[in-house]
Amino acid sequence: EKRLIKDQLNRPLRDLRISVIDRCNFRCTYCMPAEKFGPDFAFLPKSELLTYEEIERVARIFVSLGVEKIRLTGGEPLLRKDLPTLVKKLSAIEGLKDIGLTTNGVLLPKYAKELKEAGLLRVNVSLDTLNSELFGKINGRGVGVDVILTGIKAAQDAGLGVKINMVVKKGLNDSEIVPMATFCKEQGLQLRFIEYMDVGSTNGWKMDDVITKKEIYELLKEHYLLEPVDPDYFGEVAKRYRYDGTNVDVGFIPSVSESFCSSCTRSRLSANGQIFTCLFNGEGHDIKEFMRKNVTDEEIADRITNIWGARKDRYSDERTEESAKNRKKIEMSYIGG
Ligand code: GTP
Ligand code: 5AD
Ligand code: SF4
Ligand code: SF4
Repeated sequence: EKRLIKDQLNRPLRDLRISVIDRCNFRCTYCMPAEKFGPDFAFLPKSELLTYEEIERVARIFVSLGVEKIRLTGGEPLLRKDLPTLVKKLSAIEGLKDIGLTTNGVLLPKYAKELKEAGLLRVNVSLDTLNSELFGKINGRGVGVDVILTGIKAAQDAGLGVKINMVVKKGLNDSEIVPMATFCKEQGLQLRFIEYMDVGSTNGWKMDDVITKKEIYELLKEHYLLEPVDPDYFGEVAKRYRYDGTNVDVGFIPSVSESFCSSCTRSRLSANGQIFTCLFNGEGHDIKEFMRKNVTDEEIADRITNIWGARKDRYSDERTEESAKNRKKIEMSYIGG
């Protein structure tokens, strides 16, 4: 039986983003810059990670409180051992309507089929350019584009829904906006342009680095006829348009220029078992140690209800150049975006 809960701004709890690991095989400059995440960086030891049994238990309780959609993230989630085993457990939860994965795509050739068989429905693959040299610089590991395209193809062949995420940063990959749009349109892939955000405190974000939805939209309009499309579900972060005369959509995630906090129904679970009620929180609420103390499902549900009930977060609505710099914020690799 479901207990539906609302926060202080009357927003229901609908989504759970689960980070399964804080490590990544890339060092994207806007997320885990190599200078800050070097060979000596202290990633979480395995004992600090929630086990699959623990993740499943929390997820099931979240679903009983209104969550309908789960997204697995990282770091790079496919680096966690045996991820399909977790997908299988989660997809069996009654009442769950959607389960997706956000990945850099490197390991999709290896896992796509198994993930699909385990019950995964969709993947969102990050790709910021079609130029291998530039891509190698952005991912900080010199990996070229072909690997990712092979991963995307593997996901499509496996029958997974696929969307492409492109973070746009001024002076870095803005020249790739039109080539990426053209490529994705031809491949029937939904591309989403993401405004560069001030996540964490390592990427040196400046308002000046942001290319807004409006700027990208104006540029696309010079090449394509676009029709607005209604959201797929309440609180969808992407504003979508359809290329006229096709069934292919293109989207924008305008977290900086047109924030969407008023409809934010997302909770986040970090790899080490903390609940975050906003991507821009400095600290989370422990659930791991609590769970390891022999508590009942009911007690866990009460704790989550209290955390969500107290929620007032609307960081992107209130963002200033000042808060971007000075506020303590959790790193993206810890919480999965
Ligand atoms: P769909 O289920 O396919 O709509 O996925 P999604 O867009 O919600 O998730 P994805 O992991 O692909 O994230 C795309 C971008 O949206 C990333 O840059 C996220 O950080 C950003 N994003 C997702 N949710 C939020 C949010 O609540 N607040 C902010 N500011 N950004 C978000
Ligand atoms: N701003 C916006 N999006 C980001 N992502 C990673 N770092 C940032 C940032 N600073 C994106 C990734 C991935 C998604 C989970 O978040 O590219 O697609
Ligand atoms: Fe890049 Fe995603 Fe890894 Fe961050 S988690 S470094 S965005 S691939
Ligand atoms: Fe939700 Fe926080 Fe993002 Fe606003 S900034 S949409 S409250 S996660």
